[in-house]
Amino acid sequence: MESIVILDFGGQYTQLIARRVRALHVFSHVLPCRTPLADILRLQPKGVIFSGGPASVLEEGAPTCDPALFEAGLPVLGICYGMQLMGKLLGGEVTKAPKREYGLVDVKARLDAALLKDFEDQNACWMSHTFQVSQVPKGFKAAASSENCPVAAMENTEKRLFGVQFHPEVTHTRNGLGVLRRFVFDICACRGDWRMEDFAREQIRRIREEVGQGTVLLALSGGVDSAVAAALLSRAIGDRLTCVFVDHGLLRKGEFDEVSRTFERDFSMHLIAVDASERFLTALKGVTEPEEKRRIIGAKFIEVFRDEAGKLGKLDHFAQGTIYPDVIESGGALGSSVIKSHHNVGGLPKELGFTSLIEPLRMLFKDEVRALGISLGLPESLVWRQPFPGPGLAIRILGEVTRDKAETVRESDAILREEITRAGLDRDISQYFTVLTNMRSVGVMGDERTYDRAVAIRCVTTDDFMTADFYRLPYDVLALVSRRIVNEVPNVNRVLFDVTSKPPASIEWE
Ligand code: XMP
Repeated sequence: MESIVILDFGGQYTQLIARRVRALHVFSHVLPCRTPLADILRLQPKGVIFSGGPASVLEEGAPTCDPALFEAGLPVLGICYGMQLMGKLLGGEVTKAPKREYGLVDVKARLDAALLKDFEDQNACWMSHTFQVSQVPKGFKAAASSENCPVAAMENTEKRLFGVQFHPEVTHTRNGLGVLRRFVFDICACRGDWRMEDFAREQIRRIREEVGQGTVLLALSGGVDSAVAAALLSRAIGDRLTCVFVDHGLLRKGEFDEVSRTFERDFSMHLIAVDASERFLTALKGVTEPEEKRRIIGAKFIEVFRDEAGKLGKLDHFAQGTIYPDVIESGGALGSSVIKSHHNVGGLPKELGFTSLIEPLRMLFKDEVRALGISLGLPESLVWRQPFPGPGLAIRILGEVTRDKAETVRESDAILREEITRAGLDRDISQYFTVLTNMRSVGVMGDERTYDRAVAIRCVTTDDFMTADFYRLPYDVLALVSRRIVNEVPNVNRVLFDVTSKPPASIEWE
């Protein structure tokens, strides 16, 4: 399969580069920058892109790559830090810019610049740098400049090495996609024939090959990822797939019935729905630390699966709806620390005794998973569900989890979802839910003083869930939701609205 490798130097837009390349119908792999050259070449990429990164190439121990890469005959495009690294490794000069450039900057291209043929005379480009290439390496030409950056792009067309100081992957850069398109098609000579249907066909073939006549157990969470994984597996191996859907007592309102109904009735899948709420809630008694909650819930899940698997007799493989950002966030990418343990995709719990772990979506981004779901015939209502974390409402209840608190957050969440759908905003907001804070505050209801709980509303928009902005929910919707929550949900006398972006906050509160 034709592909482009993206070497990750820790830049915040690395995944965006990968997404943009895939949008051109060319498959992209994100690899840590120190990936050995032999491993890169094994993938037979048509070209390599270096991402940006927060470090300075001049500092000791700055992320680097194997310099032999430049001699491998592959086209390389360095972006921001990637360009500076290329400049430094090939004998050019990198220095601190006299003036830091941040935001939109007019860049002027030389007319013959190979990657900048779509640029306008003064092309607005997104910049974010303190250092820059001040002298290009031998064999290179400066291909563009801005007021404060004499080498805003460089090229060595003979060796097919290119660098841009700005970020072509960011939509603010005018004609940015054109730069990537020129690189991918004109320079790397890609065909651009990667399609989701092909991906599905290829995965189905692989699953059949791996599973043979064996059986598979899949953990269905009700979320998009595991649902699409289930649909794919079901297409591949039919009734040799068994799905287990565990109710940990921390699902959203109505979810258990809805998911069971959809999969059993509409998809005729072999589904085992287990009410294990008592087991989970007992195990969570007294636990307040978020990571501890995740650990306990993860361990209990495995316990429940083991029990169910035991009842079913021997099942050979275990399947999971892990997607690409989970793989990257788990440290698949160099320098990225494990932020929350949900991205724990380290492998198969040994005690389950399965032969292998099947993760058919491990190379896909969320929107690609949705496209795959649609191409497999899943209903839009399921494919466009907002994400819901595995540990469920447990990480939306700050502090100790109890059945009663779960009820509070579940009811308030149902009201929020109902009103957002009613206002026609459900497709505009990437994720929206309520959080039960662990604070109590004074209020007045009727003529009585109350001392009750506060519920927070979290609504975010995001492309990739790695960064997010809070959604500007209209005041009238906020007012209605707030009024309904304090009136309809017992023990709540205050509603708050979360106005932080990610970073610095995360989307979930725990
Ligand atoms: P954060 O809170 O990390 O959330 O900004 C990013 C996305 O990941 C989801 N999330 C989880 N999903 N298990 C999951 O399956 C978890 O423990 C978990 N924590 C966060 C979150 O809902 C958001 O979509």
